[in-house]
Amino acid sequence: MLLVESLGKQVPLPGGPLTILEDVGFSICRGETVAVVGASGSGKSTLLSLMAGLDVPTRGRVLLDGHELSALDEDGRARVRGEKVGFVFQNFQLLPSLTALENVMLPLELRGDGEVEAPARQILARVGLGERLDHYPRQLSGGEQQRVALARAFVTAPALLFADEPTGNLDSHTGEAIIGLLFELNAAAGTTLVLVTHDEQLAARCHHRLRLDAGRLMDDRVASA
Ligand SMILES: Nc1ncnc2c1ncn2[C@@H]1O[C@H](COP(=O)(O)OP(=O)(O)O)[C@@H](O)[C@H]1O
Ligand SMILES: [Mg+2]
Repeated sequence: MLLVESLGKQVPLPGGPLTILEDVGFSICRGETVAVVGASGSGKSTLLSLMAGLDVPTRGRVLLDGHELSALDEDGRARVRGEKVGFVFQNFQLLPSLTALENVMLPLELRGDGEVEAPARQILARVGLGERLDHYPRQLSGGEQQRVALARAFVTAPALLFADEPTGNLDSHTGEAIIGLLFELNAAAGTTLVLVTHDEQLAARCHHRLRLDAGRLMDDRVASA
């Protein structure tokens, strides 16, 4: 599903280049759940951006379901993302001017689906927000906003879902409910899940763990595979 080869990312800084990721390689099979763990600043979000084609590497390559992202331009990468990828972020990233229902309909509209409202209503009901369809993000709690974000991510039935610390802005009780829902939706859809977290208990619920330390991959995955 995902193949990452010799991936490196450097950014130019006034004092010289900063290496954020160095020689990172692994593969993820269809339907697997993989946790990316490591200290703050170890490169987890950067790795996720590269895997999703939101950012381009300095070295190496990413194959997403057979598409070599580095061989595509920005439009091409956006097309692959639209067809294959869902995202959930720590800060929800809902559009503030759209209602819950409109936020969830949006990815279906963007890919040109004919029927967008019925599937959006259905998945919002599934995440427990069937009565909150016309509410704007600011009228919803953090946990409710993340439920909308989960509905938005799963409504397209993506092959691959990237979640970057999805409970990072939630209290532990609300976070647990969100994680329960995430795993439930994921299992039902057979989605391949890449989950960034620094919660080791949560990481332990995934099939595999990728551990980053200062931009390098530690060999956890071999031990746990
Ligand atoms: N565009 C950038 N320019 C400069 N430094 C960056 C940039 N993006 C990330 N970094 C740095 O790279 C390191 C890894 O960042 P990040 O991938 O966000 O780590 P994590 O998600 O594990 O906390 C951090 O030290 C961060 O400050
Ligand atoms: Mg991060």
